[in-house]
Amino acid sequence: MTAQIIDGKAFAAILRTRIAAEVGRMAEKGITPGLAVVLVGEDPASQVYVRSKGRMTKEVGMASFEHKLPVETAQDDLLALIATLNADPAVNGILVQLPLPDHMDEAAVINAITPEKDVDGFHILNVGRLATGQKAMVPCTPLGCLMLLRDHLGSLAGKNAVVIGRSNIVGKPMAQLLLRDSATVTVAHSRTADLPAVCRQADIIVAAVGRAKFVQGDWVKPGATVIDVGINRTEDGLVGDVDQASVAQVAGAFTPVPGGVGPMTIACLLANTLTATARSNGLPDPEGLTP
Ligand code: GUN
Repeated sequence: MTAQIIDGKAFAAILRTRIAAEVGRMAEKGITPGLAVVLVGEDPASQVYVRSKGRMTKEVGMASFEHKLPVETAQDDLLALIATLNADPAVNGILVQLPLPDHMDEAAVINAITPEKDVDGFHILNVGRLATGQKAMVPCTPLGCLMLLRDHLGSLAGKNAVVIGRSNIVGKPMAQLLLRDSATVTVAHSRTADLPAVCRQADIIVAAVGRAKFVQGDWVKPGATVIDVGINRTEDGLVGDVDQASVAQVAGAFTPVPGGVGPMTIACLLANTLTATARSNGLPDPEGLTP
């Protein structure tokens, strides 16, 4: 069997076109969605992400506010900036790029963001809302994975889904979203016994472990859908958490790296910013951008 490639890059481009159209309709009402991105320090990978977030925000017609702070910034000064952004009506979404420098308390910083502007969906209230089925801001990477899965499979009800990785950013919210779509969900991690056997039961595998080419073809049930969240820089260049060569022989479909989940993450950040803007203006949620 040769697997179908799930083209996240193309899907993300279509999503951004839909978002730009909605931004245009908001402009007629005098509303311009605004996204503020805060970067503390000079981590090169974070700088690349922040630059492309700013560029794509402007491309869809939103206002982009970038705040770059030196690595030695005191936490209180960062909290003061967040308070200013919370109070600024031109700012609908706030993203503080992670990781933060070691002297900062990540949870305290994230929880200082107004939950309604927390377009990362990391605030403890949004985590709780997602877990209990209430209207939440949903983390961008799992939201992007969900959109690709629904587009490829239709209903996820009754599917066996295995999420590999239990991070707060991807694994846990991914599991919540799959559960919400009535999949039967297993969250596997570094201490899971016989991971290959667990994966062989799966109709859907979401790999978010941060280990290059970790998931092997003989772990995959023939015809399964494999979503690769990994971004690992290796001697072979950028590779995912899935061994693409062997998995492509067995899976029904898979997301490539690059060009799979990655482009969906920023598109979903823009989707969340649009949703936050609609909600703060008393408008209905834009169609198809929320779970
Ligand atoms: N660093 C790596 N991924 C992310 C993300 O999704 N959001 C934020 N804020 N920082 C990150």
